[in-house]
Amino acid sequence: MADSGDSEAETLARLLRARRSVRDFAAREVPAQLIAAILDDARWAPSWSNTQPYRIAIASGALKDRLKEQLVARYDAATKLQGGGLPGKLAAFLTRRKALPDGDFATRFEYPEELTPRRRATGFGLYSLLGIARNDIAARNRQMRRNFEFFGAPMALFIFVRQELGVYSVLDAGIFLQSLMLSAQARGLATCAEGALATWAGPVREAFAVPPAYKLLCGLALGWPSDHVVNTFNPGRADVAEMLIPARRG
Ligand SMILES: Cc1cc2nc3c(=O)[nH]c(=O)nc-3n(C[C@H](O)[C@H](O)[C@H](O)COP(=O)(O)O)c2cc1C
Repeated sequence: MADSGDSEAETLARLLRARRSVRDFAAREVPAQLIAAILDDARWAPSWSNTQPYRIAIASGALKDRLKEQLVARYDAATKLQGGGLPGKLAAFLTRRKALPDGDFATRFEYPEELTPRRRATGFGLYSLLGIARNDIAARNRQMRRNFEFFGAPMALFIFVRQELGVYSVLDAGIFLQSLMLSAQARGLATCAEGALATWAGPVREAFAVPPAYKLLCGLALGWPSDHVVNTFNPGRADVAEMLIPARRG
């Protein structure tokens, strides 16, 4: 028993450390049985009172391509809205309705000062690996746009939560998501959780019969990793000591 316990710990430690967000996928489909197996693993995630307050919508093939087109069109319209001089602004005005985020949750926020350096290091680390200069807005936009192409993945998943449990349904969905990502990792597949995919809910709601009480929380790209350099990016982690809150003295 002790032996198998040790090897399970090692396997889990390896999977946890090896999982990376993959931002370029091979053009290879994921067999349906594999998706079924991953979901069957992930459903064992714990949740508040075992309510399992989440739902998943899965897009592949023509449906995924249609969603990609619609989301990229929104991203392009939003980008024009941000800049592009007068012609850009005019075009953006005409497409304004399309560009405005209609997500169920905010995906842009003011970052607290304490967390800003980590966010910056991650962004700059990724761009510098890709040879994108800090001030090259066009190249940064092109990379950001890849989010809405699901980074070339053959599958895009969308995770919805019921809001009535407040932050706890979101917590449950997060545990579910990590379970799903680790199961995918164990099977040689790769993932990238994509908060960006919660920016526009309209196209996703049009494509799937989402019960109105369920709110779009996050997306996930799923597929086989390519050998693109972007997939070597590892932003690292803070040490455990940085995470621990010390006890008060006395
Ligand atoms: C909830 C959530 C949302 C995320 N959204 C995005 C996203 O929209 N685009 C992206 O490229 N990465 C996204 N990521 C990936 C994070 O940037 C990544 O997990 C983090 O930088 C750590 O890197 P690693 O996953 O490779 O260990 C998201 C991750 C999580 C957990």
